[in-house]
Amino acid sequence: MRRPDRLRRRAAGLLCAALLLGGALPARAVELAIACGALGLERDLCAAAVEAWAERTGHRVTLVSTPNSSTERLALYQQVLAAGADDIDVLQVDVVWPGILHRHLIDLKPYLGDAPAAHFPALIANSTIDGRLVAMPWWTDAGVLYYRRDLLERHGLTPPTTWDELARSAETILDAERAAGNTDLQGFVWQGRAYEGLTCNALEWIDSFGGGTLVAADGRVTVNNPQAIEALQTAASWVGGISPQGVLNYDEEAARGVFQSGKAIFMRNWPYAWALAQGADSPVRGKVGVSALPRGGAAGKTSGTLGGWQLAVSRHSRHPAEAADLVRFLTSAAQQKQRAIRAAYNPTLPALYDDSEVLAANPFFGQLRRTFEHAVVRPSRVTGSRYNRVSSAFWQATHDVLSGEAEAADRLARLEGRLNRIGRRGRW
Ligand code: GLC
Repeated sequence: MRRPDRLRRRAAGLLCAALLLGGALPARAVELAIACGALGLERDLCAAAVEAWAERTGHRVTLVSTPNSSTERLALYQQVLAAGADDIDVLQVDVVWPGILHRHLIDLKPYLGDAPAAHFPALIANSTIDGRLVAMPWWTDAGVLYYRRDLLERHGLTPPTTWDELARSAETILDAERAAGNTDLQGFVWQGRAYEGLTCNALEWIDSFGGGTLVAADGRVTVNNPQAIEALQTAASWVGGISPQGVLNYDEEAARGVFQSGKAIFMRNWPYAWALAQGADSPVRGKVGVSALPRGGAAGKTSGTLGGWQLAVSRHSRHPAEAADLVRFLTSAAQQKQRAIRAAYNPTLPALYDDSEVLAANPFFGQLRRTFEHAVVRPSRVTGSRYNRVSSAFWQATHDVLSGEAEAADRLARLEGRLNRIGRRGRW
C-alpha cells in the first residue's frame, strides 16, 4: 500500500510554506502517518493534536483512515503489518491487542523516560509483553448505562439497578409513551452486531450474573456455566421486545444515533457518547443520566467491560524516534485532559480523576470511579495471540442465541468445546 500522492504533495507544500515563513525546522523533518479512529469526535481530536505536535517539532503527520469496527481495524492492521509495509508509523491499538500485535511493535520504554509511571499500572502491565512496553495508554473505557432522565421522571421511575428492573421500566415507559403517540420510541439499545463490541456487551451481562470471564486467568475455559446461560437468556428476551430486532446489527454509533435522536430510553455505550449527547446540537442535551450497568439479579453485581485504546509504533516505521515522540506527546497529561474535557475520553492517568475541570465536564467520572477502576477484563492476556479467535467464537455463539437460532445452554456447551480446542485444553 502506498500513501496517496495527493497527501505527499500537500505535505510538501506545507513544508515549503514553513521554509518561506522562516519557521524553525528540525535538522531533518520527517513525515509520519498515524492511524487513529473516527468514531464520534475521535478524528477531529486526533487531527488537532497531531497538528499541534507537527507545529512544535517541524515534522509532518498524515492521518490514515481506519474502519470504526475494532474487528475490521485489527484485520487491516494485520494485513499492513504482516506485509512489512511502512505506511503506518503510529497505530491506535485496542486494549485487547498487545498479545496479538506485539511482534510488530517497538519497545517504547527507551524513548519515554518516566512517563509510563504516571499511568494506571494495570494498563502499563497490559501493554507490556515479555518486558517490552509495546503501547502507551491513550484513553480507557468501560461500558456504562445511559438513560433518559426526563422520561424516567415523567413516569415516576428511578434508574434501574437490575436488568429485570430495566426491562420492566422500559416496558412501562414504552406502553405509556407509545399510547401517547411516541410510536418510534425504543426501550434499550446496545451493540448486538457480530463483532468485538458484542463480546464487550455479553461479557458484562455474564459478569453481572457472576458467570466469570469466559476463560479464567489460569487458562481454564469457564464460559459454560448456569450464570452465563441465564445472562444470555436474559439478553435474548430483550430482542424484539424492549430492544428492536435491528439491535442485532448495531455497533456503538448505530446505538448512539438512535439514543441521541431521542428514540431510546436506555443505551449501553462507552463514555464518549456523553459529550456528544450533551453537544449543543443534540436533541437529548440536558435530558441524559449515566449510571453503572445493572446487576444480574439481587445476587449479581454491577459490571462494565474494560475497553480503551493505546498508541504504538510499528516495527516497520522508518522514524521510530520521532514516532515515539508523537506517542509521548499525544498520551501526555495535557493532551488527555483536553480530550476528557472536550469529548469525555477517560484519561489513563489517575491524577486527572481529581482534576476539577475534568470532573465538571464529566460528573460521572467521579460517581462511577469504581466502575472504571474495577472494570471486567476480557481474557486477552491469558489467550494472547489467540484472543481474536476466542472472541469471535464467543460473539458468534452469543449472536446465535440472541437471534433465536440456538438455545443458550446448547450453544455455550458447543462454545466450550470450541474454546478448548483453540486453547489446546488450557495450555494456550
Ligand atoms: C471500544 C473499546 C474497545 C472495544 C471496542 C469494541 O472502542 O474502547 O476496547 O474493543 O469498543 O467495539
